[in-house]
Amino acid sequence: MTDQANETRERVRAAYAAAAVAATQDVRFPLAIAGSTSCTSSAGDPTTSCCEVTPRGAPTIGTGFGASLYFADQQGELPAEAVAASLGCGNPTAVADLHEGETVLDLGSGGGIDVLLSARRVGPTGFAYGVDMTDEMLALAETNRARAGATNVRFLKGTIEGVPLADASVDVVISNCVINLAADKPAVLAEMARVLVPGGRIGVTDVVADDDLSPTARAERGSFVGCIAGALSRSEYLDGLAAAGFVDAEVAFTHEVAQGMHSALVRAVKPAAH
Ligand SMILES: C[S@@+](CC[C@H](N)C(=O)[O-])C[C@H]1O[C@@H](n2cnc3c(N)ncnc32)[C@H](O)[C@@H]1O
Repeated sequence: MTDQANETRERVRAAYAAAAVAATQDVRFPLAIAGSTSCTSSAGDPTTSCCEVTPRGAPTIGTGFGASLYFADQQGELPAEAVAASLGCGNPTAVADLHEGETVLDLGSGGGIDVLLSARRVGPTGFAYGVDMTDEMLALAETNRARAGATNVRFLKGTIEGVPLADASVDVVISNCVINLAADKPAVLAEMARVLVPGGRIGVTDVVADDDLSPTARAERGSFVGCIAGALSRSEYLDGLAAAGFVDAEVAFTHEVAQGMHSALVRAVKPAAH
């Protein structure tokens, strides 16, 4: 990676380490919902809305992000602390339509909510992995795993650009509001294709920009660590998925998180072997 990409990744890691510590200390994060959906700051600066950055460096959560995006019955399945640690922009477990016995991988698993929900969906004959690069998030996720009593779960330290799992080892890749944070998005899409079995699928939620928004216009709407400035446009997502070998790709907007920026459901399939 370039120096700039490394620096971007470190900024993301520091922000989410602060978020995990804040959640662990029961600071009113991430439950503090900012009132506005307009994001105005440039990368790294404190902002006033969306997945904003506090003066302490932790992103807080804005309208259109977090635990409220899960169904009430799903929230009831997990310890309150695991639900409260949600920093996502959607509900990928609902997108992925998980089945008993499947192996699931969550990219950028954070406090673990989607891994723990997936583990319940796939049952004792299935397994759910989470990968995250931030030690503090991994510790929070492990605490939440123990609280939930989940045994078919493992959190792995690693980057989503270099997933620490073997080729063709998972049936489903999910991710919730993380790919926009990756410094090398083509590498992430290639890793998703590598770890999936032939015929495997992705069910991702992410922030996605309208096609007519330039990278500069995206950065005007929110910070990189706040999940806005690094978002791909819909066409960039579809082109990237095709370049990584996926088929039947779709990017469906669900709700606006900033002007011209949306939470989106991203689905695609790795072709079956012939
Ligand atoms: C916005 S939070 C989302 C967490 C979780 N998916 C959720 O829905 O609550 C982003 C998470 O992705 C992790 N992350 C960001 N970029 C990453 C990368 N390149 N490799 C691995 N983890 C990454 C961060 O450490 C953080 O835990």
